Amino acid sequence: MILSPSLLSADCGTLAETLGTLQSAGVKWVHWDVMDGHFVPNITFGQHVIKGLRPASGLFFDVHLMIDRPERYLADFKAAGADMLVVHVESTVHLQRTLAEIRRLGMKAGAALNPATPLSSLDYVMDDVDMVLVMSVNPGFGGQKFLPVTLRKVAELRAKLDAAGRTDCLIQVDGGVNLENTGALVEAGADVLVSGSAFFGHPPFDERLAAFMAAAAR
Ligand code: DX5
Ligand code: ZN
Repeated sequence: MILSPSLLSADCGTLAETLGTLQSAGVKWVHWDVMDGHFVPNITFGQHVIKGLRPASGLFFDVHLMIDRPERYLADFKAAGADMLVVHVESTVHLQRTLAEIRRLGMKAGAALNPATPLSSLDYVMDDVDMVLVMSVNPGFGGQKFLPVTLRKVAELRAKLDAAGRTDCLIQVDGGVNLENTGALVEAGADVLVSGSAFFGHPPFDERLAAFMAAAAR
């Protein structure tokens, strides 16, 4: 299991320092929640902030775009230093083109599904994704409660990917992830878990990472 801490729950005033502390704690990925106030009600940060912090970190930048028509900004996020761009299937009418363009720019491509969005929305892009993000809360805010139906969705997605010969495609789960549901999520087939409040609320980071890894192994 890969843990990708969500900076939405970190103190924005000390992000450069936090990125360093995460890396020393043994974290490999970091999750950036980009929100535009349209696709989701909240507004966070964009490519400018990510670019400014890129030199402060060697972590894998996992960028979750919660913005309308993300195809407008793919090159900007590449220039900012994103390693992976995850777009919502609900946010663009040109999903395949968008995923292909992310890869063409040299980044990993991910597709995210809101809780009510069916897995069938992936039927014709199965070969275009490196990761599928299953939202386990409705996106927009940190600290929400995990929707238990996610466990069934992840298991069905794992079976769907395996049947399509995509055993290599990662499954990420985001929203309300904590030490209590981590074991069940990994058992259902999740590879990457995003955690905001349940991670940043409990320093030190090396111990918290170890607790998540232990929960994943249970
Ligand atoms: C929600 C974001 C999540 C959020 C997770 O819209 O996509 O990444 O930061 O935070 P927690 O873990 O607190 O639910
Ligand atoms: Zn996210």
